[in-house]
Amino acid sequence: MKIVGIVGSNADFSYNRLLLEYIAKKFKKLVEIEVLDIKDVPLFNQSNDQTNSEPIQYLNKKILGADGVIIATPEYNHTIPSALQSVIEWLSFKIHPLDGKPVMIVGASYDVQGSSRSQLHLRQILDAPGVNAVVMPGNEFLLGEVHKAFDEEGNLKDGQTVQFLEVCLKKFIRFINVVNVLNAPEGMKDLSSTEDLHATGKIDTTIEGVDMLADDWVEQAAEKTGAVEGKTYVKLDRGILTVDQLNYFLNSMPAELTYADSNNQFLYYNHKYDAEEMLASRRPEQVGSPLANCHPERVYSGVAWVIQQLRTGKQEVVRTHVPTHGPDKFVVHSYQAIRDKEGNYLGINEYVQDIKPIIDWYLEQTGQQLVGGGVDAVSGATSKVDTVSGATVKDN
Ligand SMILES: Cc1cc2nc3c(=O)[nH]c(=O)nc-3n(C[C@H](O)[C@H](O)[C@H](O)COP(=O)(O)O)c2cc1C
Repeated sequence: MKIVGIVGSNADFSYNRLLLEYIAKKFKKLVEIEVLDIKDVPLFNQSNDQTNSEPIQYLNKKILGADGVIIATPEYNHTIPSALQSVIEWLSFKIHPLDGKPVMIVGASYDVQGSSRSQLHLRQILDAPGVNAVVMPGNEFLLGEVHKAFDEEGNLKDGQTVQFLEVCLKKFIRFINVVNVLNAPEGMKDLSSTEDLHATGKIDTTIEGVDMLADDWVEQAAEKTGAVEGKTYVKLDRGILTVDQLNYFLNSMPAELTYADSNNQFLYYNHKYDAEEMLASRRPEQVGSPLANCHPERVYSGVAWVIQQLRTGKQEVVRTHVPTHGPDKFVVHSYQAIRDKEGNYLGINEYVQDIKPIIDWYLEQTGQQLVGGGVDAVSGATSKVDTVSGATVKDN
């Protein structure tokens, strides 16, 4: 997902630019944000059409190519600066890149009320028919007394403000997905918004206070929870094993195993091979990430569909065969619902196997033969992308 952030000020030094740059830097693992300036955009003049000028076309193309837009507006005399108004006028005159585009408004200003009035005005402006942006309701992020808000490195000083900003940004990411469903052509149903693939929720086993996207999430989460390891015994149903034994046992399974919980967070895989050697590659640093960060966006809808099948109990296991490994492998991905004793959905056990050795052995033992065309390794309709927990399936 790609977002552009528009600085609503044309000043050489702007706190609103600082705010957007901070958001882009702080949340870079959550979403890619490119900060755009409006400094070079001329004042709107209906009699002197400059729609095709470089600065306006630059903004136009960047907005068209983005999934969403964040506008950071200052407050000038209780409304938005004329420079920002001018930009919106150009972008609603002969061209309309904001039409249907999800927009989040933030703002920083000197006053304690920090741009609240300009934000309200900006909402109204963006709702005009020529603009027709889809502005996220609520979640008003105001940064008052902005001259005291940042430290020397350009970071926000107040932890609660940062937390609220993160909440707003995560909601905006979900909002973008919802708007995409609304904008999708009729008949083409995008199911991505049916699941919280960014794992913004919380379940009773969620380990809080550790960045899900940290490369060393496992180490940090283990420290935070005091997780046992090595020769320590764990009582299971039914048996007792040391953590080492449990690891060896899971690694000896004839499949690549992955656990993603009901909050759509990737928690575990049996790490016995390097990513390049796996049928469905996973990397150690991916563990802990939301499923959205493990997949290309184009498969979100498919991922959400599989999870919905399991979560709602429509299917207990969803299977897909992946023919791209060539005729010598029969690779099957199985997505198995994990449930507690009451049947509540706890997540997915995805196991990936090459079932050819088992089939060959069975045929040999029983004297039977495969009839028909075998596996279609060329035109295989199945997606090349591993649908649920890991990254992209290895190409042969
Ligand atoms: C003409 C003018 C009017 C302003 N009016 C307001 C105002 O109504 N409310 C407010 O909080 N700040 C007001 N300010 C102060 C701005 O909030 C402050 O200059 C802020 O840094 C502008 O954002 P920027 O740094 O991103 O350019 C005004 C500033 C100027 C130059």
